[in-house]
Amino acid sequence: MENSNGNPNAPVQLIIKDLHASVEGKEILRGVNLTITQGETHALMGPNGSGKSTLANVIMGHPKYEVTQGEILFKGINILELSADKRARLGIFLAFQYPSSVPGVSVGNFLRRAVEAKREGYDPNAPAAPSGEMPKRKGMPPAEFRKLLNQKMQLLKVDNTFISRYINEGFSGGEKKRAEILQMAMLQPEMAILDETDSGLDVDALRIVSEGVNAVRGPNLGVLIITHYQRILDYITPDVVHVMYKGRIVKSGGREFALEVDKQGYELLIQALEEDEAATV
Ligand SMILES: Nc1ncnc2c1ncn2[C@@H]1O[C@H](COP(=O)(O)OP(=O)(O)O)[C@@H](O)[C@H]1O
Ligand SMILES: [Mg+2]
Repeated sequence: MENSNGNPNAPVQLIIKDLHASVEGKEILRGVNLTITQGETHALMGPNGSGKSTLANVIMGHPKYEVTQGEILFKGINILELSADKRARLGIFLAFQYPSSVPGVSVGNFLRRAVEAKREGYDPNAPAAPSGEMPKRKGMPPAEFRKLLNQKMQLLKVDNTFISRYINEGFSGGEKKRAEILQMAMLQPEMAILDETDSGLDVDALRIVSEGVNAVRGPNLGVLIITHYQRILDYITPDVVHVMYKGRIVKSGGREFALEVDKQGYELLIQALEEDEAATV
């Protein structure tokens, strides 16, 4: 089930075609096209309110957003029909712009359950379980879990006390973001979306979080970094940079494009694009 279409050697891709989505009856995404292949890092920039978080939430399957047109394929599977949980089991991960706290659930217990669920995977061809029957839980031996956790905590330079604390309760901005990256490292997704992982971080925290992301990057992982500022891209070098405006990707370029956007500012960039468009009509 790794890749559908019968080709186990095809690279894993997230393919978004002409995606339109609304929230509370208001159209936010107005025709997004984007393809990310594993091993690549894409940056999605754009002014506030342009639809970046909406795109992240729609990819992950947040029920509040209604897709009205277009498609999203992952591993050749149309994921729009899948619940968020199944999308995660397929290998998509989203680090939230505003991670919520979960009082009473420790980081360690949460990670254990999340890793177990991910390991169960999702097979679109598997027969549905008879109704009323709980799906079999594939447990993970505690020693194995502990070993993986220790390894990832070392990689991300996370303090040992972290895992017994309740998720995000009383966490600083930097700690919340590190908890998200630790989760990503544990889950080993094939497509990771980081929504403003840089927001609210000072330079030291940003460097630590970026090093964490870089430590889990590799040929199997596709990354979409959503950011308002190009600053994080000094640490995590993207292959492709896109700018979103009013629910569409209006321009894409290489690494240097982010620097250009930063120097020029969104207002001037969008003004120039609109003038170009007017000139060609
Ligand atoms: N859950 C929601 N309920 C109502 N409006 C929303 C919701 N999510 C996003 N929007 C609206 O959609 C637009 C795009 O928001 P968002 O995707 O958060 O942009 P960005 O992440 O680029 O700042 C904004 O006008 C915002 O008010
Ligand atoms: Mg946002």
